[in-house]
Order: sequence, then structure tokens, then C-alpha cells
Amino acid sequence: KRRIGIMGAMPEEIEGVVALLSDCVESSMGKRTYFSGQLNGIETVVVFSRWGKVAAATTATTLIHEFKITELLFTGVAGAISSELKICDIVLGKRLIQHDMDARPLMNQYEIPLLSKTYFESDATHLVIASKAIQTVFENKSLHSVIGENDLVEFNISQPKLFIGDIASGDQFFSSNEQKVNLNTQLPNVLCVEMEGAAVAQVCYEYEIPFSIIRTISDIADETAHIDFPSFIKKISSKYAAEIIKNIYNQM
Ligand code: ADE
Repeated sequence: KRRIGIMGAMPEEIEGVVALLSDCVESSMGKRTYFSGQLNGIETVVVFSRWGKVAAATTATTLIHEFKITELLFTGVAGAISSELKICDIVLGKRLIQHDMDARPLMNQYEIPLLSKTYFESDATHLVIASKAIQTVFENKSLHSVIGENDLVEFNISQPKLFIGDIASGDQFFSSNEQKVNLNTQLPNVLCVEMEGAAVAQVCYEYEIPFSIIRTISDIADETAHIDFPSFIKKISSKYAAEIIKNIYNQM
């Protein structure tokens, strides 16, 4: 039976998505609260992942084992690595890589031990559905009604764009241009950086659960990141995530 797990990297994002659930039941386990219910008639479990690779991997594992999810959607924010990305753009991860994995000289840098793999591919069907859904959000200008004119002006957001490509994850918050340039030099295809996606991707790969990682750019991963990041979350991403999820379910 189809059951979708939705993980969010921010409590603010989860709130908006939980509000979409009908017949919502809460259960707590391991410092996490899982919200189970129906969304557009599809059984859905929503949870705040907590932060970092370990937290995200354990949450994904619990969704698979305890809640028997058959697919997983992850929404969160990310810092831009590619200079083409602007705040509020959305990145759909086609491939996920752990930028802090390095077991040299036993194996290549970034290679995941025992899996002979460096990148995890997200689900192709999800990618099509999610990109249609996000284009709908952009085209309908529902963004303006969801977020509000003042905040759009404050963050200098005009028309956000959708990007599909590589996302890098690791247990580091990027807050300097040096970190950003290093990653860009090492992995020039990476569009953005965050702290959970590739860990969730690894768990889903191991359990054969189709997944997709959806990230909104909250900052540009440099010295300004710690200022942009919290205010973006508070003012924008909380509303944005729910709107994206709603549109994804409309396409399912
Ligand atoms: N998520 C959002 N912004 C980030 C950054 N600058 N570094 C790592 N993860 C992030």
C-alpha cells in the first residue's frame, strides 16, 4: 500500500505540511514527532528530520521500518554553490553526494564505503512530478499570494527558477566564501549544499525506496549565510514548503 514519508529540515516547514493532513495522529520516538494522516487521500507521514546526516539517516530509517513508507520526499533549504542560483530558487536533486566522505587511500574521495558508489540518484518519476508542481507554483504566481509582497522585496526575489542537478550534503554549515570556492573547485557540478539529503538518499538506496530531495535556496553559502538563513526560514520557507507539497500531491 502506498504511503509517503515527508521529511522537512525545519520545524517551520513541517508545521505548514502537517496542517494539510486530515485525520492526523501524532507519535513520538527518539526525540522526533511523526504526524500520520491523509493528504489528498494518500497515507502520509510527516516529520522534522533534525539536522545533519546522522539525524536525517535515522529519521529516514524510522519512516521505513516503523511507518512502512513506500516513498520519501524531503523538503528543506540549501546554500547556493553555483553562482547562477539566487535566493528562493528551487533545486531538485538529481544526484546526491556526501562532500565530507573521504576514506582515502582505501577508496576514492567521496566514495561511500561498501557500496562502490559516489552519487545516489533520485527517483525519475518523482523528478517529473516535482518539476511540474514547482513550475505550477511559479507560473500561478501563487508565490506572491503565499509569501507576500513585502518579504519578496526584502529578499530581492523576482521570478524564482527551478534547477535540476547535483546536491552535496555534509555535516558543515557553509559560512565563508573559502568553503564555497573549495567545494566548487572539487565538485564543479554541485548546485547547492545542505546537511541531510545525501544521507537520506543513502538509506533510501539501501532499502530501495524511491526518493526526491527538494531544496529552496536560503542563502549563498558565504559570510552572509548566517544572516540570510534564519530570516529566510522564518519568513519564507515555512510557507513555501507547504505550497510545493500541495502542488506535488495534485500531480500524483
Ligand atoms: N542549508 C542552508 N544553508 C546552508 C549552508 N550555508 N550550509 C549548509 N547547509 C545549509
